[in-house]
Amino acid sequence: MVGRMKKLRVGVIGCGRISVMHLTSIALLEDAELVACCDIKKERAEAVAEKYGVRAYVSYEDMLDREQLDAVHICLPHYLHSKVACYAFEKGVNVLTEKPMDIDLASAENAVKTAKEKNLLFGVIFQCRYNNSAQLVKRAVESGKLGNIITARSTLTWTRPDSYYAESDWKGTWDKEGGGVVIDQAIHSIDLVNWLVDSEVESVSCSMANRGHKAVDVEDSAEGLITYKNGVKYGFYCMNNYGCDEPIEIRLYCEKGKVVFGYDDAYITYNDGTHEEAHQDENTTDYENGKDYWGVWHIRQIAQFYKACLGLEPLDISGERALSTHRLIMEIYNQGKASMK
Ligand SMILES: NC(=O)c1ccc[n+]([C@@H]2O[C@H](COP(=O)([O-])OP(=O)(O)OC[C@H]3O[C@@H](n4cnc5c(N)ncnc54)[C@H](O)[C@@H]3O)[C@@H](O)[C@H]2O)c1
Repeated sequence: MVGRMKKLRVGVIGCGRISVMHLTSIALLEDAELVACCDIKKERAEAVAEKYGVRAYVSYEDMLDREQLDAVHICLPHYLHSKVACYAFEKGVNVLTEKPMDIDLASAENAVKTAKEKNLLFGVIFQCRYNNSAQLVKRAVESGKLGNIITARSTLTWTRPDSYYAESDWKGTWDKEGGGVVIDQAIHSIDLVNWLVDSEVESVSCSMANRGHKAVDVEDSAEGLITYKNGVKYGFYCMNNYGCDEPIEIRLYCEKGKVVFGYDDAYITYNDGTHEEAHQDENTTDYENGKDYWGVWHIRQIAQFYKACLGLEPLDISGERALSTHRLIMEIYNQGKASMK
């Protein structure tokens, strides 16, 4: 009989909206078992604990002190990500954190450094990279089939009404969320372009505004030009004060073809007249209350993180790699916030 592989003992910190994507994935994946969960709101932790038959905590320190965990998933407000990750690293526990890495650069860099010192894995969720569409485009870029990217653009026009912010005690705040549409929603499309271009940023020129959210003072609109050291010019536009959630759109103009893609579909037209396309698989998993705009590929990234924790594969989206996007987002804020004054 083939020996049973070790199952990772994992915990989830933060049992709010996004936690269903993590909890459902953990339940479906063979490499891990949920043993504990934590939320400062006791009733949320207890509801998860009851559903999955695990222990509930209201303090992440308690959970990490008492449980023998291999990994934790951090599903917390942005300003807590690095702090809680570092606590886990000090306890010898691997971390998979939700995006963004934090609301500043120094904390994110410190978490990367701490993970390295402790020889632990630090994964950062950017599940959109696992969409079939993004995977096709990445392969076409990396294989050289598209030649060099010359220029790129991304647009996001979504709606997050005042009621979205009113339901949360941290969203829409500079000190806990770290911003608005850029750090929360557009971060995924900006990350996709940054990942595809794969070069150091030379300069960022951008502006931000709050064009209509009365209940919060963070930006609901931003636009800018990012110039990379390899010469790529990337223009982005995002706003979450639109009348509906339109699909995001990313366009790449490359030496050997053009790409149009979003979270669901990708269309590549090569200059030689050939085409390639990719589409989202039909989702058969029920992520209760999951939002369409999250996509369904947390499970792919979580599975990859577990394989890395088990020593079977190198970690794909490590903190070290995710820092590239985090630095860019922070630079967008450095400039954008100044433009709001
Ligand atoms: N990858 C994606 O597409 C995606 C989508 C949505 C949210 N997110 C991210 O997930 C994270 C959580 O967002 P959300 O929408 O689930 O927020 P949420 O407010 O619904 O959930 C956060 C939870 O953390 C709990 N909490 C706060 N402080 C705590 C503490 N000190 N200890 C323990 N628990 C604490 C809150 O009580 C709450 O239940 C954010 O980083 C967000 O950006 C990612």
